[in-house]
Parts: sequence; structure tokens; C-alpha cells
Amino acid sequence: MATQLVLLAAGQGKRMKSDLPKVLHAVAGRPLFLHALDAARGLDLDRKIVVVGNGADAVAAAAKADDPGVETVLQADRLGTGHAVAQAAPLLADAGGATLVLYGDTPFIQPATLAAMETALQSGADLVVLGFEAADPGKYGRLITNGDRLEKIVEFNDATKAERAITLCNSGVMMAATDLLFDLVEGLDNNNAAGEYYLTDIVAQARARDLDAVVVRCDEDETLGVNSRVDLAAAEAVFQIRARIAAMMGGVTLEAPETVYFSHDTKLAPDVRVEPNVVFGPGVQVESGAVIRAFSHLEGAHVSSGAVVGPYARLRPGAQIGATAKVGNFVEIKNAALAEGAKASHLTYLGDAHVGAEANIGAGAITCNYDGVGKHKTQIGAGAFIGSNTLMVAPVAIGDAAVTAAGSVITEDVASGDLAIARTKQTNKKGFGARLMATLRAGHKK
Ligand code: UD1
Ligand code: CA
Repeated sequence: MATQLVLLAAGQGKRMKSDLPKVLHAVAGRPLFLHALDAARGLDLDRKIVVVGNGADAVAAAAKADDPGVETVLQADRLGTGHAVAQAAPLLADAGGATLVLYGDTPFIQPATLAAMETALQSGADLVVLGFEAADPGKYGRLITNGDRLEKIVEFNDATKAERAITLCNSGVMMAATDLLFDLVEGLDNNNAAGEYYLTDIVAQARARDLDAVVVRCDEDETLGVNSRVDLAAAEAVFQIRARIAAMMGGVTLEAPETVYFSHDTKLAPDVRVEPNVVFGPGVQVESGAVIRAFSHLEGAHVSSGAVVGPYARLRPGAQIGATAKVGNFVEIKNAALAEGAKASHLTYLGDAHVGAEANIGAGAITCNYDGVGKHKTQIGAGAFIGSNTLMVAPVAIGDAAVTAAGSVITEDVASGDLAIARTKQTNKKGFGARLMATLRAGHKK
């Protein structure tokens, strides 16, 4: 069956109290509405239409950047969810098949749930609504049923006391034959407490035409809708719990799972071990057998098998840690590769650099990659030994098996196998230390 998606992402999100459109607020580093779009990707979608309005340009740009196949349509005045769906009607006039409506502020609907809705539609229902039993139904719309049949949806603000006591709630997800959906939406009015065109009213309309509306049910944590920062934090917590479980089910050891934070795209191979208090920002991939030690922060980084990162390491975008390489405490790596077996064990900054296999970077070594205007590259050869507190003023190249003396400021290239000493020569003055102290102490007593 040809299926179209209409994703509502035009609302203002007043309760967020934010300049950023609500659907661009992120869970696990990914905007809310893109999570919803991901869920729908499980269906075989012909068209993906995102209805934009509040912050339209920013939302449309985020959608296109993620998937150039997404189409956007503008809802210039936000007159309600029914009005929002109606904006997609001209685009889908000849589409046929079925249309799924998702809300951009509801990020966790599972693909299997959407597939169950599609099955219900194929089994003969005219209109399928996704509902859930709410522990605390709050302000969700209530589903009024008669046996298996859905009679209508009542919004909280319009509900009677008896209706508010109902715990079966509306998720906002609906599916119907495309032509029927838009036909029903066209018949909506705004005669209600909010003065909005409610999409939810199409259920009563369908029933008035003696059409068959059914409820497909799912777990409450799938339908969590984000309306406030409190909801956003709750959504983040739900995501993190799922991500931790998925990682562990995939063979990753998490010593204290509740203290490890994932991004939407974190990829950890089986037999990765993660110690407590680790944060994965976007774009991290860790290969089998690697260990991420406590209190490390990684983003845009690739860690190869058997490597050890941390404790207290920071990997920034472009960090490539080779197999069995070691990145120790208080080491920051940005846009730099450590080849196999290389080590930077303590207190180091490596930016815009390439470190050869088995090279050793001493404590306090720093690549001076930025001159205030441009960034420059440092090359360190295989097996090189960079003495403690070496400053490498880029652009500069240090050859294979070359050595730099501790405390050197390296401004010239060093050839393979050479030793570079770039520091003031030491002078020792016989007996001076003791005499100096005596003089100072005598002065202090006066
Ligand atoms: C809606 C449902 C409610 C359901 C709840 C589930 C209606 C009338 N109510 O309420 O039954 O329990 O979701 O989370 O549908 N939007 C637009 N244009 C508009 C208005 C909204 O695009 O003119 C978008 C919003 O960006 C949002 C979604 O539609 O992504 C839902 O709108 P929202 O105002 O949050 O609806 P709720 O009050 O949560
Ligand atoms: Ca909502």
C-alpha cells in the first residue's frame, strides 16, 4: 500500500518558553521531530511531508539537511492540528493510498506500532487511532469507546468530569485512506474551548458517516508528548534508558549504566567496556574490545579495537584513536589521528595532528595548532618519542623514531631518527642555592 506521512511541526510550543521552535529541541542530540520521522521510516513511505509554521525556515532547513527527500508545507496561521493537516491536502490530492499523521513533539513511537496501525487499516478499519492507557492522563485527549469501536476523541479542555476520568488517551497518531482523511479534515470546525480546528474531531465525523474507527494501543512511554522542559527531560530519560538497555543487549558492558549518556547515533561494538560517568556526544563509534574509562567525554570520534580512552579524556570531532592506542587522563584530542599503539597518557592537547604508530607523547605535550587566524597541522612519525612538555608549533613535522627533549619548543621540522633539543642550556652555580636562601632568611628576620 502506498503510504504518505504528514508530520505536524508548526506549533509554537508556548509551554517551552523558548525562542527555539519546540520541535527543534533535542533528545539525545537529535531534534524531536526527526525522532518522529525516524519511527515512520519503518513504513514504506512514498512521500514525507512536514508541516512547518513557527520557525518555519529553521525547521524546514533541519528537515532537508537530514533527508533531502522530505517535503515541507507552510501553515501560515496556527489554527490547530486539523488545520495543520489540511495544509498538506494540495500536495497529496492525487496520492491515493493511506496517510499517516504524526506529531512532531512525540518522538518515541515505535516502528512496530505504526506497522500494527497499517495492518488494522488493511484489515478494513476506515480510521485508525493510536491510543494508550495513561498512568496520569493529565491533559491528553480522551478516547471515548464503545466496545472495540472508537466513537470520538474529547480534548481535555472540552471534556466533562466523567470523560476526564477516562484513562485511555490519544497519542495524536492517526492513519486513514488519504482521500478519506482529507475529506474528513475539510469538514472540521473550530467550535470548541480552544477555538482551534482539532484533528481529533474527525473521529466523531467518521462515526456520523457510519465509518469504522478503531484504536490500536501502545505503551505509554512510546507516546510521551513533549510540551514543556519537564517533558523534555522526561523524554531524554526515556531515550537514555532505552539506549543503555540496547547497548547492553548488544554485548556492551556498562559498569554503571545510569551514569552513561548516549547520543541518538552512538555506535558501540560488542565487548566494549564503559566505566561510570561517560558522555557520548554525536557521531561516536567504538570498536570491539575498547575501554572507555570513567569521566570521559567523546564526540565525533572513532575509537578502534583494543584502545583505552580515559579516565578523564576528551575526544572532540575528528579524533581517530587507532587499535590498542592509549589516551590517558586530561588528554584532549581534536581532528587528530593516533595510529595503532600510539600513546598519549597524560595532560596533552593534540589538535590537527597525525601521530604515527607506537609513538609516545609525553606528559604536557601540546600541538600549537592555532596562530590566532588559521589552523596548522603537526605530523609525528611512527615510533617517535615526544618528551614531556614539548610544544610543537605547527605547521611542523617530526620524523619516524625522532626524539624531542623534554621542555622543547619545536618550530623546525625534525628528521627521522634525530634528536631535537630546543630549550635554554642549563647552568649550575656551585653553592649558590644555600647562600641565596641564607640571604633571604636573614632579610626576612629584620
Ligand atoms: C494533541 C491532541 C491530544 C493528544 C496529544 C498527544 C489535538 C487537538 N489534540 O494535543 O488529543 O492527546 O496531542 O500528545 O490534536 N501543530 C501544528 N499546527 C497547529 C497546532 C499544532 O503543526 O496549528 C503541531 C505541533 O507542532 C505539535 C502537534 O501538532 O507537534 C501537536 O500539537 P499540540 O498543540 O502539542 O497538541 P496537544 O495539546 O498536545
Ligand atoms: Ca503536544
